[in-house]
Amino acid sequence: MLGGQPVIILKEGTESMKGKTAHNNNIMAAKAVADAVRSTLGPKGMDKMLVDSMGDIVITNDGATILKELDIEHPAAKMVVEVAKTQDNECGDGTTSAVVIAGELLKKSESLIDQGVHPTVISNGFRLSSQEAIKILKEMGIDVSLSDKKSLKLVALTAMTGKGVGGERDALADIAVDAVSSISEKLDGKFRADIENIQVEKKHGGAVADTHLIKGLILDKERTHPRMPRVVKDAKVALVDSALEIKKTEVEAKIQIKDPAQMQKFLDEEEKTIRSMVEKVKKSGANVLICEKGIDDLAQHYLAKDGIYAVRRVKRSDMEKLAKATGGKIITNLDDLKSSELGYAAQVEERKISDSDMTFVTGCKNPKAVSILVRGGTEHVVDEVERALHDALKVVSVVIEDGIVVPGGGAPEIELALRLRDYGQTVGGREQLAIEAFAEAMEVIPWTLAENAGMNSIDILIELKNAHNNKKTGKNFGVNVLENKVSDMLAAKVIEPLRVKTQMIQSATEVASMILRIDDVIASKKTSPAEMGARGPPGGMGGMGGMPPGMM
Ligand SMILES: Nc1ncnc2c1ncn2[C@@H]1O[C@H](COP(=O)(O)OP(=O)(O)O)[C@@H](O)[C@H]1O
Ligand SMILES: [Mg+2]
Repeated sequence: MLGGQPVIILKEGTESMKGKTAHNNNIMAAKAVADAVRSTLGPKGMDKMLVDSMGDIVITNDGATILKELDIEHPAAKMVVEVAKTQDNECGDGTTSAVVIAGELLKKSESLIDQGVHPTVISNGFRLSSQEAIKILKEMGIDVSLSDKKSLKLVALTAMTGKGVGGERDALADIAVDAVSSISEKLDGKFRADIENIQVEKKHGGAVADTHLIKGLILDKERTHPRMPRVVKDAKVALVDSALEIKKTEVEAKIQIKDPAQMQKFLDEEEKTIRSMVEKVKKSGANVLICEKGIDDLAQHYLAKDGIYAVRRVKRSDMEKLAKATGGKIITNLDDLKSSELGYAAQVEERKISDSDMTFVTGCKNPKAVSILVRGGTEHVVDEVERALHDALKVVSVVIEDGIVVPGGGAPEIELALRLRDYGQTVGGREQLAIEAFAEAMEVIPWTLAENAGMNSIDILIELKNAHNNKKTGKNFGVNVLENKVSDMLAAKVIEPLRVKTQMIQSATEVASMILRIDDVIASKKTSPAEMGARGPPGGMGGMGGMPPGMM
């Protein structure tokens, strides 16, 4: 206020929320996100059916997928959703846990704020806890080598428990281990396993049990002409990213033809051009043509006559995978097509998978090219199998890269809860309160695992703490939801990559601290699309135009 006059610095319609209101509101939103996914946690967690505005449905148990499908508006809630995304990208698993922990951290800080502890102190305490937690987790880690296929499989199995893939979990885990092992490579003394190199193709029909690994690539494409060979052995593959068609002009053009002879000449010329394109392919020695663009009917006819197997309109990403797999080069100008640019595969074959024809490129030059053909009764089943498989592939690749696992079933979280409390005492002061809150928040994982399995969470937590207090035997004890008791998780074969747990702690802590430090939310008035149009493109210096030169 200036002499009774309010000073307005923000545009009309801007909403602002300050201090405690802002805090409460943000924390509530973040907790709501956590509550939305909580019931899906663990092997006995339930699934959710999501219906989008178009009426499409997704049935899933995967935290990241649920949050991706929801139309979340609240800014703080959106920040929590980001945590799930990061977790998914980094580890492929642990998304629900990360979100649930973030929500729990905020819930615990709410009561600390009510007791008068300043948010910065809490956020500081959380940071210290997170650093200590990573240390403790690393101590719990168990080394796993690339050749230890048994452990790799257990990691895949743990990641897939509870994900609607039921009885086929075992077979899928084998596929995941097989696929990731075959693409992993050693670079500068470190193992790398980039699951981008594994092609996953979905086709509904059949059963989940029909899902299988193919040493090679699959294209969801049929050969363009029925007279082309169905199988080509010793395939020399031409990869072309330009069309085998007569170019259409960009501008609308008209040609006036006055007599029929001219017309015939015109058509002959077209035919000649097409013929010469096919000729170039043939001359290179190729017997398979994979084209990113279209192939003209006439060209198809000639290709078939020459015994060349051709597919068209192949995705760019598949072209690149093919280039890598067959050792061929993607050619734009047909004149550059030489035999040295061709890729090699022992066999290219069209196979009928349920009601569509697909092209299988197998026995490639590069043995690291593998694909998985995902099958299942309906589209929804296939989608959920693909998501489960993605989790499994990612966790196996993470273990191959890092070589360390920890027990699952809430064992690490309980260990953290106990040891962080001890750590808090060494820190003292108000931060200790925050560290204790952090420790308590860790218990939400075993608590929820037990709750979702219909066990008594209070009893389970007491039993778990007793077990963990016995340092020698107990630190791997967790919630054995399949047998309704607490037991050694290593013996129960429930193991997860260390990175899933460290990433989960780090990102949950970061987002909680960030939300805690916000004490003012200033939201501009939402601009309707009509207004956006009237204002012209955003940005620019338009608003500064009226300022005196000295201000710039
Ligand atoms: N057989 C099992 N027994 C007990 N806990 C398990 C078992 N399999 C997985 N878990 C635990 O379930 C939790 C993961 O549940 P999940 O629904 O996959 O959520 P997230 O999205 O966090 O991975 C982890 O804490 C994991 O250790
Ligand atoms: Mg999981």
